[in-house]
Amino acid sequence: MSFLDASEMIGGYGAADILHGCTLKVEKGQIAVIVGPNGAGKSTAMKAVFGMLRLRGGHVKLDGEDITGLSPQERVKKGMGFVPQVNNVFPTMSVEENLEMGAFIRTDDFRDTIEQVYELFPILREKRYQNAGELSGGQRQQVAVGRALMTKPKLLMLDEPTAGVSPIVMDELFDRIIEVARTGISILMVEQNARQALEIADQGYVLVQGANKYTDTGAALMADPEVRRTFLGG
Ligand SMILES: Nc1ncnc2c1ncn2[C@@H]1O[C@H](COP(=O)(O)OP(=O)(O)O)[C@@H](O)[C@H]1O
Ligand SMILES: [Mg+2]
Repeated sequence: MSFLDASEMIGGYGAADILHGCTLKVEKGQIAVIVGPNGAGKSTAMKAVFGMLRLRGGHVKLDGEDITGLSPQERVKKGMGFVPQVNNVFPTMSVEENLEMGAFIRTDDFRDTIEQVYELFPILREKRYQNAGELSGGQRQQVAVGRALMTKPKLLMLDEPTAGVSPIVMDELFDRIIEVARTGISILMVEQNARQALEIADQGYVLVQGANKYTDTGAALMADPEVRRTFLGG
């Protein structure tokens, strides 16, 4: 049994379906990566897993529990954290306020979780009183990831966390994501940088037109000539 089991998802916005039987699974403490062309439905699939989309078919199970009918906030309580592709920080709030906002469902003392985020992303401690909107793209993404970690998720979902950052910053972010996975947190991540992302992926999904085109380990997808030719630029 996979820790996340989102199977045969069918649904979209309004009448038209975007997802046509999409299946995404993540094992405990592993990294699963979704790649695929623009408009394939990657973000839609993430929203569906997080409960922002009503499914017409399929189910979402977390740690064996069927959560298909739960709201996003209820899913956060069950252990999901989500960093959306856009608008993932509050630009006019400080770094630390962003982290505090991330802890919105918590009623206990979350000071030590802020400390853990600062240990993971030391630059955020330095910039903790600066508005998130003043930071570089890579630093803003760290704020977004840190904010999602504030609820101590068991599954962290990231939609293009390295969008618009330099290759060096991308490598650093991937290293931090690996570090998070090593603590036992499962990662489900959409990535444009397909090669680099599949390199760190235990499991890889190539999504095309809302359905699984290829599903295999990251290494196997990287080695597949057809996948390389069609999706990885040779
Ligand atoms: N809020 C929305 N309302 C209606 N259609 C949408 C919405 N968001 C995305 N779409 C459509 O859904 C399809 C998949 O989009 P998306 O999931 O964002 O793809 P990807 O993340 O793979 O680039 C696209 O055709 C897009 O135009
Ligand atoms: Mg997208």
